Amino acid sequence: MTGDRATSPVMSQRLFGADIHSPVFLASGTCGYGQEYADLIPLDDIGGIFTKAVSVEPRAGNPPHRVAETPGGMINAIGLENVGLDRFIQDKLSWLREHLTRAHVFVNVVGRTRDDYAAVVAGLDPHDGFLGYEINVSCPNVKGGTLFGTDETALADLVARLRKETDRPLIIKLTPNVSDVGVFARICEEEGADGLSAINTFPGMLVDTRSRRPVIGNRSGGVSGPAILPMGVYATWRARQVTEIPIIGIGGIRDGDDAVQYILAGAALVQVGTASFVDPDAAVTTHAGIEAYLRAHGVATLAELVGTLDDGL
Ligand SMILES: Cc1cc2nc3c(=O)[nH]c(=O)nc-3n(C[C@H](O)[C@H](O)[C@H](O)COP(=O)(O)O)c2cc1C
Repeated sequence: MTGDRATSPVMSQRLFGADIHSPVFLASGTCGYGQEYADLIPLDDIGGIFTKAVSVEPRAGNPPHRVAETPGGMINAIGLENVGLDRFIQDKLSWLREHLTRAHVFVNVVGRTRDDYAAVVAGLDPHDGFLGYEINVSCPNVKGGTLFGTDETALADLVARLRKETDRPLIIKLTPNVSDVGVFARICEEEGADGLSAINTFPGMLVDTRSRRPVIGNRSGGVSGPAILPMGVYATWRARQVTEIPIIGIGGIRDGDDAVQYILAGAALVQVGTASFVDPDAAVTTHAGIEAYLRAHGVATLAELVGTLDDGL
């Protein structure tokens, strides 16, 4: 590794056809549609945001409680509450277009059927104000009842269909709830995805022992936060072994050192989610921490650190 400690390391990377000046993004569902977060941190100081999921129709979401703290993180069952495609385009995308200059926007997309996903992508595609899509495949496929992301055929069909709908960057968000995440990563690449996000939450449940009821209104929810960091790093490393498209590491990242674990394992970008609820500045300090790591280790550019884990293989 080379680099002059006196000069600032290069944090920007050319990815998805864009100059991305910071590798740190806010994770879907943890920053609303950006506007909600704009008073907390300067969004243009980080790489950008992954929006809350957008579905064709507005969704009301699940009954309370929707979130609770767990040892090492949190559990949530928001139920993909969102304003729906039309209001997203009218109110949210227009705000993002007007207020962000350097930060990039990826729209997180959900659906109950392949046609639902395709309708969101087709509806958004002619509009400005965002770079690409992150497809949340951790949703039950209505027909099969299984998650798109845990069924090889359903996933392949979905990615192939969406590839036909858009030329924009198409990132598939992998669920870790499979026996080998590498198999699913490969399917995404083979069907034309441009990138992978790894990972979404793990299913979990918390019990209130006094009432003998589940704490979460939906009974079960998705577990996130520091507790899932090792699983996210593993999924990133496994996906890197079998694919070549860029990976966005997610899960439990609180600071630069956490992010560098993902970057060494193969992630070009990272997302900060749960940590922002504890410290709204977490994404900004994560960026600074990665930069400090590069400087301390004499690495001239972030890009040359990606995937350099010495795993002995
Ligand atoms: C409250 C909450 C809402 C979320 N909503 C979404 C969502 O709409 N779409 C999605 O793909 N992921 C969603 N996620 C998952 C996060 O984007 C992320 O993958 C996960 O929380 C792991 O990262 P973290 O440990 O940094 O939070 C949500 C997570 C939380 C905590």
